[in-house]
Amino acid sequence: MTAEATMDAAPDPRVPAAGAAAQALFASTFGASTFGALPTGAWSAPGRVNLIGEHTDYNEGFVLPFAIDRRTHVAAALNGTGRIRVASTFADAPAEAALDDLDVMFPASEARSDAPRVTEWATYPLGVAWALRLAGTAAGAGVDIAIASDVPVGAGLSSSAAIEGAVASALNDLLGAGLGPVALAQIGRRAENEAVGAPTGIMDQMAAMLGRTDAAIFLDCRSLAADIVDLGFSAAGLEIVVIDTRVSHAHSTGGYRERRDACERGAALMGVPALRDVSVGDLERAQQVMDAVTLRRVRHVVTENQRVLDTVRALRAGSPAEIGPLLDASHASMRDDFEISTPELDVAVEAARAAGALGARMTGGGFGGAAIALTPHERIDAVAEAAASAFASAGFAAPHVFTVAPSHGARRDA
Ligand code: GLA
Repeated sequence: MTAEATMDAAPDPRVPAAGAAAQALFASTFGASTFGALPTGAWSAPGRVNLIGEHTDYNEGFVLPFAIDRRTHVAAALNGTGRIRVASTFADAPAEAALDDLDVMFPASEARSDAPRVTEWATYPLGVAWALRLAGTAAGAGVDIAIASDVPVGAGLSSSAAIEGAVASALNDLLGAGLGPVALAQIGRRAENEAVGAPTGIMDQMAAMLGRTDAAIFLDCRSLAADIVDLGFSAAGLEIVVIDTRVSHAHSTGGYRERRDACERGAALMGVPALRDVSVGDLERAQQVMDAVTLRRVRHVVTENQRVLDTVRALRAGSPAEIGPLLDASHASMRDDFEISTPELDVAVEAARAAGALGARMTGGGFGGAAIALTPHERIDAVAEAAASAFASAGFAAPHVFTVAPSHGARRDA
């Protein structure tokens, strides 16, 4: 298989395409209704790649994600009906609910048995509307929302945070709520945790709201202080290649929750509020007070927090090529200590490195999704080819390989 066969075209043309798709869907779904002749606005929010700092966010530690040039677009307008109606290019039919019913539908864990139900994808936009109501923003007027996206779903690139960010931005503007980006990230996370039921941290929503072109967001997940860190990749001739294994994952079930529980157990055994408070020097003591599996989980989080700090230091010193070994060490830690990698992710990472990537790791929650490889410009085709042929030799379905550019966060487009 050639590199041309596996690499996507340059990303720019896709963004207007998804924006236009949202507008067209709005017109075909809501256009005939009294209020829905024209959407009053267009908003978008990006997916993200996490450069480093995995499973550290809910441990109140450090993360370093960047927003990518793949976005979820929404076209939206108030509809005057007291109902929220949502349509998506991924779904055959729109979904809707009375705004007053949102309070009995969510949180999902406490929903009344007679509460109206919507299909899974619709819980993201409806959950955001619910979380905004809880935050005191009355959406009494009702709203129509059409959604289209070019963020791959299930690839570990936070397609869900992109939906939450775009919908939260649209509702914030349409309802005049006046919330800032951090508050909107918290609304998105609440929707994800309590409406969808995925016990995630806040990294993805913060990346979707705060992204900047050519930069990453260094986030302290305890204080939510965010610093913009220039990546300097293009000046150094480097790119991030994404190798999407196409093994899909879901964080509302299974492994993700178990890892969170293990981290909480580890923190309790160390007598601290969160693993953020455990340093590499404390790991010897950790060994005395916990079982071997919990120790491995704790060791991943503690060493990963340190790797984020080391990565930020190297980037601030203008040495982006030096972060390669930190990416490699992060992957090894997730494979061996946190045990959230998959054979496909390991093959992707090995193939990328062998073909000239300076470092590679799985990105996102794990159990599937994508790997990223820090790759000199002239090795991109070689990395794509190596991943494709390694997957073929291992008997895996072909990966989806593309480059991503660090991009701006959620915004109103029109
Ligand atoms: C998912 C979650 C994030 C974070 C990562 C792992 O993407 O949504 O909050 O926990 O996994 O770093």
